[in-house]
Amino acid sequence: MPTPHISAENGEIAPLVLMPGDPKRAERIARDLLDDLRLVSDVRGIGAWTGTYAGTPMSVMASGMGIPSLGIYATELYRFYGVKKIIRVGTCGAMSPRVKVRDVIVATAAHTNSSVAQLLVPGVSLSLAPSYDLLHAAGHAAKKLPDVTVHYGPVYCSDHFYLARPAVTEGLVKLGTLAVEMESAGLYATALQEGAEALTILTASDHLFDSSQDMTSAERETSYQAMVRIAAQALIG
Ligand code: HPA
Repeated sequence: MPTPHISAENGEIAPLVLMPGDPKRAERIARDLLDDLRLVSDVRGIGAWTGTYAGTPMSVMASGMGIPSLGIYATELYRFYGVKKIIRVGTCGAMSPRVKVRDVIVATAAHTNSSVAQLLVPGVSLSLAPSYDLLHAAGHAAKKLPDVTVHYGPVYCSDHFYLARPAVTEGLVKLGTLAVEMESAGLYATALQEGAEALTILTASDHLFDSSQDMTSAERETSYQAMVRIAAQALIG
C-alpha cells in the first residue's frame, strides 16, 4: 500500500535497496546497474526504481539530504514494503589524513551529534553500527576491485553542513574518524528500530583540510561507480 512518501504498490520494491542521497543519481545508478527497470514511485521527485542485478531483484531510491529525510524513506521501506537490506551509497568530506579524495569508505560505526542516537532507549547513547553480514560482504566485494583504496572505520554523521566547529573536528580526527557526512547514523538507527540490516559506503568528494585534492567530475564518476559495484555485490551477498 502506498505510504505518505512512497507511491509504489506492495511487491513493487525489492527487499534489497541501494540508497544514494541525490534522486538524479538514483536514476543514473538504476539505469547503469539494473536490468528490466521501471519507476515504481515518484513522490516529491524521489524516484524509486526496481529491476534486477545479476538476476536478483533490487531497487534504487534516494534518501534526500540529512537524517530526517533518510529516516522517513528508510522507515517506510523497512516497515511497509518488507525491505530487508539498505546500503547507502553517498559522498563525504574526508577528515583523516589517511583518506584521499576518491577513496572509498565503509562506515563501521557512525558517531553523531544528532538526537537519533538517544531517542530509542531513554538515557542511552546507542552505538550506531552496520549489519555485520553486509559489512563482511562489502569487504569481500571490495577485495575484487584492486584499483580503488577502501578504508574501514568510523565516520561522523553531522546534523549541520554549515557549522564549523574546529574542536569537534580535531577531536574526531584524533579518534580515527575517517570522514563527515549527514545520513549514516539515521540509517543505522532506523535499521535497529525496524530489526533490519543497513550499511553505509561513501566516496570522499572533498577533503576538509586539503582542497588541492578536489577531483574532476570524471574521477568522481570512476570512484562512485566502484562504490556502487561494491554495494550491489554486498546486497546480493
Ligand atoms: N560535510 C557533510 N557532508 C558532506 C560533506 C561535508 O563536508 N562533503 C560531502 N558530504
